[in-house]
Amino acid sequence: MREKSESLPLKGRKILVTAGGTKERIDPVRYISNDSSGKMGHALAVEAWKRGADVVLISASQLDTPDYITRIPVESAEEMQKTVFDEFDDADAVIMAAAVSDYAPATVEKQKMKKKDTLTLSFKKNPDILRSLGEMKKTNQVLIGFAAETEDLIQYAEKKLNDKNADLIIANDVGKKDRGFNVDENEVTLLSRQSEPVTISLRSKSEISVEVIDWLVKNMN
Ligand code: CTP
Ligand code: CA
Repeated sequence: MREKSESLPLKGRKILVTAGGTKERIDPVRYISNDSSGKMGHALAVEAWKRGADVVLISASQLDTPDYITRIPVESAEEMQKTVFDEFDDADAVIMAAAVSDYAPATVEKQKMKKKDTLTLSFKKNPDILRSLGEMKKTNQVLIGFAAETEDLIQYAEKKLNDKNADLIIANDVGKKDRGFNVDENEVTLLSRQSEPVTISLRSKSEISVEVIDWLVKNMN
């Protein structure tokens, strides 16, 4: 719904949001990716916009976006990283909701590959965008990441909070059918250094976004 909140605490603030699963090309018609739909990132972008922010949504998702959201489409992790870096300097906050592929094919075939009896692909590690932002960020910039896990959710998420120098990690169980990737609902736990973990029980991704952006408003420098 195109309706801004009555108070606009993020007015004049630039917020980058990444969304969707990156696609890593194998050949002109094939790629590897993951189950992320982009719904969580897109919901966060809309909620930040409602609070008055200048939102830039960098999205690898196929989802439509409301026309009032500035969207930069990207495909691969490398392309996402370049676009995020281009937009980062004057951003007040970044929310890395994208499921960035950890690997990309070591080589991209120029022509459509012909079928053989077996196929072996080699992969190279992709750049870790959130980690780089954690190294680059200025004291006034707020960095929010996700931790997509199927086991030991909180332990792994805490490690990501520290290792990547994020201000908030949103721990996201992606191993269940009713939440996480490619569905309308989610349950998450917010992990920051200032307070004990806060679990936001199962609800729509729009409602989850309200809680996350509330946290951002309270913790914006
Ligand atoms: N991320 C990133 N660049 C990557 C991989 C992940 O910026 N190449 C970001 C994601 O957008 C997310 C956070 O890092 O905000 C955590 O992603 P996740 O996949 O949960 O963790 P990884 O650090 O990739 O570790 P692993 O997949 O091994 O759990
Ligand atoms: Ca990963």
